[in-house]
Amino acid sequence: MSLIDRQGRKINYLRLSVTDRCNLRCRYCMPQQGVTDIGHDSLLRFEDLYRIARSAVAIGVRKIRITGGEPLVRKGISGFLRHLSGIAGLDQLVLTTNGVLLAEMAAELRDAGVQRLNVSLDSLDADTFSFITRGGSLKRVLNGIETARSCGFPIKLNMVVMRGVNDHEIPAFVRLAADSASTVRFIEYMPAIRENGWQRLVVPGREILARLERDFRLLPLEQARLAGPARNFRISGISGTVGIITPISEHFCQECNRIRVTSTGQAKGCLFDETCIDLKPALQADENNFQLIRILRSIIAVKPAGHLMNPAECHHQAFSMASIGG
Ligand code: 5AD
Ligand code: SF4
Repeated sequence: MSLIDRQGRKINYLRLSVTDRCNLRCRYCMPQQGVTDIGHDSLLRFEDLYRIARSAVAIGVRKIRITGGEPLVRKGISGFLRHLSGIAGLDQLVLTTNGVLLAEMAAELRDAGVQRLNVSLDSLDADTFSFITRGGSLKRVLNGIETARSCGFPIKLNMVVMRGVNDHEIPAFVRLAADSASTVRFIEYMPAIRENGWQRLVVPGREILARLERDFRLLPLEQARLAGPARNFRISGISGTVGIITPISEHFCQECNRIRVTSTGQAKGCLFDETCIDLKPALQADENNFQLIRILRSIIAVKPAGHLMNPAECHHQAFSMASIGG
């Protein structure tokens, strides 16, 4: 079974958010005042999240990425993941984390069947890291990454590039990829919360590439199966790979293979489209997941062809990535 939308895109990737809470407050994700957590009542129970995952797999999803907020702050997450990883037909169960709790939790995540981790890491300088995350400890996250590696996790590091904040660290991140034989992805800053002056923070992907090419020789890599939107490169002479994700300057909408479900059960076809369908009534109504499956199909039917953002303007309502799943 595979699901093809109106644009001919094969939809096989679900991003499933398990909480909007977070133990950091990254500037690009949350406004200064912070955000009020959604109440426990509107948060879906693990049982419901599991039914959504199963229904998604039943209609063709092969990869599930668990996101937040910060997924590791949700109590009982490892048991839930163990349950998810047992779904027949699911090829990849992966998770995005800020790394704060990895030192404690990496072993149980591995044991639960999580295959890979994406860890957000926006600076290798303790002060800059603390500035971006509004108080996070770089040391703790680096420790967490080390522990996860020693548990056998393949890890991708995600760095959101912001002009004047951390863009001077691009070469240091490439060296980190080389030294640890891992993958670092540079992500264009997105104006999710639409703060004043966001335009000056965006370093377009093309500029990131040009800056990389000044110091390194990049060799393009083939896209992996079920891959996300990164364009990946090997670097001549060193191990490790780098990727670039350009949601703003070079849209990848025509290749988008994903749908999203928020922690409160809103299914969405696109991060920047306000259309969403509430899965809660279907969760209450049907035992056999028929309605759930029907709604998941319908969100694919209304998945927009693309979004209209560019490095100078955006039109969407402000939102926190933590509320939708980064
Ligand atoms: N711009 C770019 N990436 C973002 N993320 C969250 N907010 C933004 C934003 N405004 C991504 C980061 C983070 C993940 C959880 O979501 O890569 O690592
Ligand atoms: Fe938390 Fe991730 Fe948002 Fe940072 S980007 S505040 S780590 S949810």
